[in-house]
Amino acid sequence: MRFDTIISGGTVVTDRGERSADIGLRGEKIAQIGKGLARSAGRDCEVIDARGRYVIPGVLDVHVHLALPFMGSVSSDDFDTGTRAAARGGVTTVIDFAIPFGKESLLQAYRNWRKKSDGIACVDYAYHMAITNWDRHGPQMEKMVAMGCPTFKEFMIYESEGWQSDDRAIFSALENCKRLGAMLLIHAESSRVLDELIARHHTRPLMKKYGARLHAMTRPNYIEAEAIQRAITWSEVTGGRLYIVHMSTGEGTDLVRAAQARGVNVFAETCSQYLVLDDSKFAGRDGHLFACCPQIKKPKDQKRLWEGLRRGEVSVISTDTCTFTRKQKATWKGDWTRIPMGLPGLETLMPIVYTHGVRRKRMTMKQMVARLCTNPAKLMGLYPRKGTLARGSDADIAIIDPRKVIKVDHRRLETNADWSPYQGWPLRGFSETTFCRGRKIVEDYRFVGENGWGQWLPRKKLARP
Ligand code: URP
Ligand code: ZN
Ligand code: ZN
Repeated sequence: MRFDTIISGGTVVTDRGERSADIGLRGEKIAQIGKGLARSAGRDCEVIDARGRYVIPGVLDVHVHLALPFMGSVSSDDFDTGTRAAARGGVTTVIDFAIPFGKESLLQAYRNWRKKSDGIACVDYAYHMAITNWDRHGPQMEKMVAMGCPTFKEFMIYESEGWQSDDRAIFSALENCKRLGAMLLIHAESSRVLDELIARHHTRPLMKKYGARLHAMTRPNYIEAEAIQRAITWSEVTGGRLYIVHMSTGEGTDLVRAAQARGVNVFAETCSQYLVLDDSKFAGRDGHLFACCPQIKKPKDQKRLWEGLRRGEVSVISTDTCTFTRKQKATWKGDWTRIPMGLPGLETLMPIVYTHGVRRKRMTMKQMVARLCTNPAKLMGLYPRKGTLARGSDADIAIIDPRKVIKVDHRRLETNADWSPYQGWPLRGFSETTFCRGRKIVEDYRFVGENGWGQWLPRKKLARP
């Protein structure tokens, strides 16, 4: 058989296990996996020596916000820098959130997002469709599923952005999801009590005294837990599939575990920042830089989230990448409610999970592949095209040298930020070589891809995973 590329002698890891094998790529697909393929390499075939390396499926980061107009700013990583960063982190598929603005339809939001990404993205991409007005968008869901967008998003907060959904919208969207073979993603925070806590603390003396620490002080864990509980109730009574995005608390993890044990159709995602950062960061001079929603929590929450990942009640690790520069973050001027919320993450997702998860024995390699690649592909309707290494799957591959340590320095990252939450951290698990649909886009840790290589991915209706 003729191959364009053979990745030879690596430890091939899927969610089912590890084995030593060669992988032959032809065109955009994986053509064969087996022993001794390199022996049959033709003259034009590039053979990559992967001995001593892990060869894994390209990562799917199913929660990013690239060039998002938000809180009076626009997130600074767009589909150019964001997907370059993705490539360096071994991420070959991103899913962004297409959010209608003003009176726009879901279709208009989809078109707006295509304009931002087509011809620019360096890795493959898709969108979750954000429902911001139930009466307008509810009837449009069916058409979006037929077009290849079977995942929808509702925010329980962000009234001032015009994005908030109430219980009626969540209940009804879940009913539609059940009927249409779709899934509802929820940003779960309890807005009315949150607003009350913010109002009680929003005074000059308190802001002077506590600064960015007020972000954590006004968002106790019950703000997330109560909202998750409510969303689970609507999923339980409607049977609609629910996916809790960026879950940050131990309490939330307990609720998801209990619901899954009752057979509720609910899944959860956490993000790398909730696994390794805690709210002591808000006390520093740069504390405001670390503000994201929900905020980073306590070490005990980290511990419970790692446990949930190991046991399986947390299915996915993503980033919620929503990058803002120091200048953008500086617009807070001492008022934490004005900080553009969000963190960079695409480039460091896999290195954090590998270094702090696998190397610290909190999960195995095969569990890492399940949480970063296979589960997100299955849950989002992209499996087995994405998320695995198998004959006929897209040739999306990351090669990791477990010996290589890179000290994070924002000046050397592709991410468009003049700071990093992980500045100076020594991390293993950056991608030495990344392939996206058969094209090499990272070589020797450097980005070598091109704008426009990434394609929009139509997705299937969702079957029960
Ligand atoms: O802080 C965050 N997460 N910004 C992006 C919007 C969201 O809630 O996901
Ligand atoms: Zn959110
Ligand atoms: Zn988000």
